Amino acid sequence: MKKLKIADGIHMLTMNVEDILFEGIWEIANGVTLNSYIVQGEKTAIIDGVIGWDGVPETLYDSLEEMGVDPQSIDYLIVNHMEPDHSGWISNFRKVKNYFTIICTDKAAKMVSSFYGEDRIRVVKEGDTLDLGKGRVLSFHPVPNVHWPDTMYTYENATGTLFSCDMFGAFGRMGDHCFDDELTPEEKEFFETEGIRYYSNVMATFTPSLRKAIEKAKSLDIKTIAPGHGPVYRKNPQKIIDDYSRYSLYADGSGKNEVTILWGSMYGMTAKAVEFVEGVLQREGVRYSKMHMPLESESEMAATVFRSAGIIIAAPTYEYKLFPPVAAALNELGRKKITGKAAFRFGSYGWSGGAEKELHEIIERNGMKWDFAASVEFEGAPKEDDLKKIEAGVLELLEKMKGKILE
Ligand code: FEO
Repeated sequence: MKKLKIADGIHMLTMNVEDILFEGIWEIANGVTLNSYIVQGEKTAIIDGVIGWDGVPETLYDSLEEMGVDPQSIDYLIVNHMEPDHSGWISNFRKVKNYFTIICTDKAAKMVSSFYGEDRIRVVKEGDTLDLGKGRVLSFHPVPNVHWPDTMYTYENATGTLFSCDMFGAFGRMGDHCFDDELTPEEKEFFETEGIRYYSNVMATFTPSLRKAIEKAKSLDIKTIAPGHGPVYRKNPQKIIDDYSRYSLYADGSGKNEVTILWGSMYGMTAKAVEFVEGVLQREGVRYSKMHMPLESESEMAATVFRSAGIIIAAPTYEYKLFPPVAAALNELGRKKITGKAAFRFGSYGWSGGAEKELHEIIERNGMKWDFAASVEFEGAPKEDDLKKIEAGVLELLEKMKGKILE
């Protein structure tokens, strides 16, 4: 666990968490940080806790003491968001400190009670404040559905620090550099990639609410953004606000100037056409990624599709339907409300078709509104004529992408 000073009387504790499935689902190959913040006036508040994933709080207590903060002196636990990656330490904290007040929204209060049995809670609404003394005044600003309905921002007035919890966060472990002005170009690129992964995996479903949260952030005089995951933005907080605005547009069909080939093949017939398509994309100078399902993780698949302006679905018919690993991936993208992508599908069939019907059922059922070039299906191996049609489909896809590019 690392300890960093944000400003006089404001400290950050951060730890890397590895080898977990985030939310029990998402394989996060590059880990994630959990960030917690201590604000000291005459009284002391801790905003979102951090704890070892094993539930052992000693590291936190040791770190607090090294910072000169006696855990016994903490009067307020500010729960910006009840999801246990931020709140899972409360019951352990209760073992060492009997009297404290939890500050949270009404929706969080219900869950704080049902998850942890806590009832010493002050419920706050938009604009409510907490004066810690010595000029440290915190105000609270609910941002519902970022990413649960209970979430709020906490804002420290004197320093203009926004404690944004999940909002403006990113996956990815942090090394020695935790502030935006310290990051190397490689680290900036890493957190762009991990920010997109985080948004697509965790936040995309809630894009309309995130847009409202972006507007709320703009209404505050922000000098520093201190999120619950990922780097702190103290030099240029506008950058992560702009990034999140762009990611919200990726959820509506915009994307980087690249294509994702979301594919699977039973006996190599569809794979032959994938190989051909790679040649077309290379000839056209288009960046592309291949997501071979079911071998890729859902996390990587969702992130790669999310950031791409164009999607090629290459999948055969399997038992009268779409090849199941690709169907499952599309259903997940639908659940995440990733809409409006330019798309093109081709695939092989043997003794029966049916993939195309299920593809459109998935797209319709999830309200995805993907803009498809005409699909190409072929019996067995792709023939010369099939490949010509596939090439035409790829070129049509590239045309459709042109109005959607946003780097
Ligand atoms: Fe970082 Fe929604 O929890």
